[in-house]
Amino acid sequence: MLHVWNTHHSPFTTHTNIIIMYQTLLTSLENNIYTITINRPEKLNALNKMVIEELSAAIDTVYNDPAIQSAIITGAGEKSFVAGADISEFKQLDAHSGEALARKGQVTVFDKIENAPKPIIAAVNGFALGGGCELALACHFIIASENAKFGQPEVNLGLIPGYGGTQRLTQLVGKNRAMQLIMTGEMITAKDAEQYGMVNKVVPLEKLLDETKAILQVIHTKSPAAITKIIETINNFDHTQQGYDFEIRKFGECFAGEDVQEGVAAFLEKRKPVFKSILSVKS
Ligand code: COA
Repeated sequence: MLHVWNTHHSPFTTHTNIIIMYQTLLTSLENNIYTITINRPEKLNALNKMVIEELSAAIDTVYNDPAIQSAIITGAGEKSFVAGADISEFKQLDAHSGEALARKGQVTVFDKIENAPKPIIAAVNGFALGGGCELALACHFIIASENAKFGQPEVNLGLIPGYGGTQRLTQLVGKNRAMQLIMTGEMITAKDAEQYGMVNKVVPLEKLLDETKAILQVIHTKSPAAITKIIETINNFDHTQQGYDFEIRKFGECFAGEDVQEGVAAFLEKRKPVFKSILSVKS
């Protein structure tokens, strides 16, 4: 991350800001909409440590820069929004560091997005899997392209969602659909996600950013103070920290067992996992 002093102008204020150059993000400011593009297309924009740290800094900018009235989070390329947490970083984790990873992500990125004082919208342009689906769910709402696919495939790795998925998905689609999606790890289409209530609108890929910006331009004509209170109040609906804390602990506990080693190794070795705990449950 490189910090550069720069001056930029907005219709509201003229002031000096820090422009941050990121290694894993592209950012732009147009019509007071800050677009954050996760930019690791060769790894389908998977969330490694650097992306989490830079996303946290970019969200801070959304909070603090008065020239920014709203933000969009999207992925680079035409294939993937975010294909999950970076699985190659799971190899070294144990119960303690697994829990710490989930907690850091939730506190510094996911919860911060959800509780931002300005609208942050996910423009989902392809795979939104695992942490990618959770990232979209943490945003205030989701617009998706026709090729987008949603899923929580952590179970294939011997894991559970760790960035709020068990809580936010259940809240949006209901308990039974969340159970099925998270237990099967299946991917669903953008249209299915719209029907489930996860996605507000499905649009052609080439119109995704324009359509998302058009919705934000309408919101920009409303009272910013009221928008902040709308976010706070809707987020306060039936929402308890206890559920997220429980998930963080359970995510960490996965790393105390053998399944996660097998699941992660199998992914990295491009083969199907063989989970030992299946054998012990059967007997
Ligand atoms: N973490 C780390 N690397 C990932 C990744 C992830 N979550 N998702 C994709 N990649 C990498 C692949 O390893 C591959 O890297 P390589 O070219 O160095 O081998 C590259 O991104 C392209 O992915 P690939 O699997 O070749 O693309 P595909 O079109 O065949 O399959 C997916 C796309 C999304 C179905 C597949 O990549 C996948 O299942 N990803 C993991 C999804 C997941 O389990 N997410 C939850 C993690 S908790």
